[in-house]
Amino acid sequence: MKKLMEYSRCVFLFLLLTITLVACSGGGGGTATGSGTVSGVVKDVATGTPLAGVTVSDGTSSTQTDASGQYALTRPAGSYTLTASATGYENSSRICSVVSGATTTLNLSLTAAHAAYVDYGTIPPAQQIPAASMNYIALAWNDLGMHCSQDDYSSFLILPPFNTLHVQVFKRGEGLVTSGITVSYAFPNKTNSALHTNFWNYSSQYQYRAKYGWNVTPNVGITGTPLAGTMTLDTNGLSYVATGIPLTPYDDNGTWDPYGAATITVTDTTSGATLVTTSVVAPISTELNCSNCHGTSNTFQNILQSHDKNSGTTLVADKANGILHLCSECHADNALGLPGKQGVKNLSLAMHGFHKDKVNVSANPLMPDCYNCHPGPRTNCLRGMMFHAGQECKDCHGDMNGMATSLTAGRQPWLQEPQCGSCHGAKHQENPNTLYRNSVLNNSPDSKMNGQIYCEGCHNSTHAEFTSTNPADNYIPQQLQGDNYWIWNCYVCHTDYMPMSMHN
Ligand code: HEC
Ligand code: HEC
Ligand code: HEC
Ligand code: HEC
Ligand code: HEC
Ligand code: HEC
Ligand code: HEC
Repeated sequence: MKKLMEYSRCVFLFLLLTITLVACSGGGGGTATGSGTVSGVVKDVATGTPLAGVTVSDGTSSTQTDASGQYALTRPAGSYTLTASATGYENSSRICSVVSGATTTLNLSLTAAHAAYVDYGTIPPAQQIPAASMNYIALAWNDLGMHCSQDDYSSFLILPPFNTLHVQVFKRGEGLVTSGITVSYAFPNKTNSALHTNFWNYSSQYQYRAKYGWNVTPNVGITGTPLAGTMTLDTNGLSYVATGIPLTPYDDNGTWDPYGAATITVTDTTSGATLVTTSVVAPISTELNCSNCHGTSNTFQNILQSHDKNSGTTLVADKANGILHLCSECHADNALGLPGKQGVKNLSLAMHGFHKDKVNVSANPLMPDCYNCHPGPRTNCLRGMMFHAGQECKDCHGDMNGMATSLTAGRQPWLQEPQCGSCHGAKHQENPNTLYRNSVLNNSPDSKMNGQIYCEGCHNSTHAEFTSTNPADNYIPQQLQGDNYWIWNCYVCHTDYMPMSMHN
């Protein structure tokens, strides 16, 4: 069992500290010597029932939960990875700091065990996972758990319609396929975004004087990607990708659907034969509830007025003169790769820093503050495994003050984000200095498997990690494994029996 002390890749110490404090709250003063206690309740993630007889261990010392699910472990001060295990449940590992002379709280929520590994050579086909009868399988995912855009671009632009899908194709029993195939995507219910957003009226310079500066035709995204087409290999040469698909949260018939699914079709490039098809959600929402505070009518005009009043700009007059601005013209934004103007705060710092003492509107009791501007009580973008386990935005990102503080301290917005490893430990961490979405499994059962499979391929994107509360997100584990779990079954990609664990 590895300890946090050996977890030497804490690049963003301030961020890690915030997370550790929140994940493992309580604590207190004390020195780095002496002993402290970590205690908490272990529950069933689905029912919330406290679980008795769960073993909680740091690899050296262990204890069991009592009849009310309580455990307590006293250890020398330091950082530990605790693993909770119980019959009928998946093991779960969490990082915790033990503070000298203090009690730290660490509650755990366990997921019921999925079926055991079985040797499909010995059981009838009807009892095998669906993938066992497929020659090719495809893992597909969206890069972020949610993309945000606007319904109306006639006043300003925060972010354009933009969505990115990845697909990895495996030939069962052989491995990853990166040549000789054509991977295409299409949205059966979303074929005409121009019906639902006025982005293309303002995107280029055709119709007005100075616009947002992307010369793209309707239904083509800012990187030239259409609503349906073929995907290309990413720069790592591992997944097929379509970057910047210009989706809206509306179906062609007007239905509000922030979780619209793409059909993915993989064909043999030479013969044209279809090898495998699947379906994957491309989440997008326009539920920026600026209207909670900036007025329900003329919301964006109100924002421009407020900006001019407070920050001495002329955004209202510019708009009247037909000049529209991207916020990132002045405020640097790594989401768009735009540098902004020297001396002006980056957009994330400007937004979270300025609003940190203004979010007195409880947008959603579950996600206070953040659902004022991030989608939102209607969209419920936080819907993955950690949502089931009761984690809120602030448990990973910090609250409004925490967001502002980390950004002021130099955190690069969009490029430095929370890490799975800071809660789950070294065995389940991202690649060094790499975002979760760009990381690949490197401690797999066999070194031949390393460096090939994206974390998101098996666990799905952040905020929507399998199991998601949104059934559409769970299509792929259902298609391949017949369950809603992360990709755990070796038979999804292999044709022989290997009773080994995935992360080693
Ligand atoms: C091939 C599929 C696959 C890939 C790729 C994969 N995982 Fe996992 N992951 C699993 C399985 C199966 C489990 C549960 C069993 C285990 O831990 O071995 C798991 C468990 C986890 C857990 C939960 C740990 C716990 O103890 O509660 C985390 C966190 C995690 N993985 C993160 C990652 C990260 C980060 C990456 C990429 C660096 C990644 N995984 C890549 C299949 C995968
Ligand atoms: C703020 C802490 C935190 C972070 C960060 C975090 N998780 Fe979790 N995760 C939890 C909690 C809490 C649970 C419920 C199990 C538990 O209590 O240990 C959980 C459970 C899981 C499980 C189910 C494990 C099982 O065996 O039951 C998976 C899989 C998982 N997380 C994957 C991830 C991935 C992937 C990431 C990064 C994108 C991540 N987690 C980031 C706190 C976190
Ligand atoms: C919880 C309430 C709340 C929400 C939600 C909210 N704002 Fe604000 N915002 C305020 C208040 C209060 C002010 C100050 C008003 C004033 O001084 O005129 C403000 C001011 C601003 C300013 C001017 C800043 C300056 O000093 O130049 C901008 C720009 C702004 N908001 C953008 C937004 C955007 C964009 C959204 C939605 C994504 C949003 N706000 C959502 C409360 C809110
Ligand atoms: C023409 C340049 C320009 C544009 C365009 C612009 N801003 Fe600003 N903004 C500024 C300047 C200058 C300030 C004050 C100095 C600073 O915050 O760095 C400011 C301040 C702010 C603040 C208050 C920050 C604080 O801490 O007081 C917020 C919030 C803000 N802008 C949001 C936005 C949003 C949202 C947009 C797009 C709707 C936008 N800005 C467009 C130049 C601009
Ligand atoms: C007043 C509106 C507003 C509120 C409230 C708000 N956000 Fe944001 N947030 C934004 C906007 C606008 C962006 C997009 C900025 C950009 O394009 O760079 C953003 C971007 C982000 C990002 C990506 C950039 C980065 O800094 O890494 C994160 C993470 C984030 N928000 C987290 C949160 C969390 C967590 C909360 C609640 C504690 C929250 N936000 C509350 C408006 C808000
Ligand atoms: C379990 C931890 C966890 C929780 C809870 C969580 N996030 Fe995140 N968030 C992450 C991670 C990890 C990333 C970086 C993902 C990546 O690799 O791009 C991220 C990234 C983001 C981003 C940047 C865009 C992106 O996806 O990369 C925004 C915005 C954001 N989160 C907002 C929120 C909001 C708002 C909430 C609550 C509704 C929330 N997050 C809850 C872990 C979490
Ligand atoms: C998402 C697909 C995927 C899943 C799921 C998967 N593997 Fe693999 N595995 C691969 C790939 C790709 C290779 C590399 C094949 C090559 O290039 O030789 C590989 C190679 C291996 C090898 C090397 C020998 C061989 O057969 O090529 C072993 C052993 C192995 N995997 C074990 C496992 C075990 C055990 C599990 C379940 C815990 C598992 N794999 C789940 C994709 C997968």
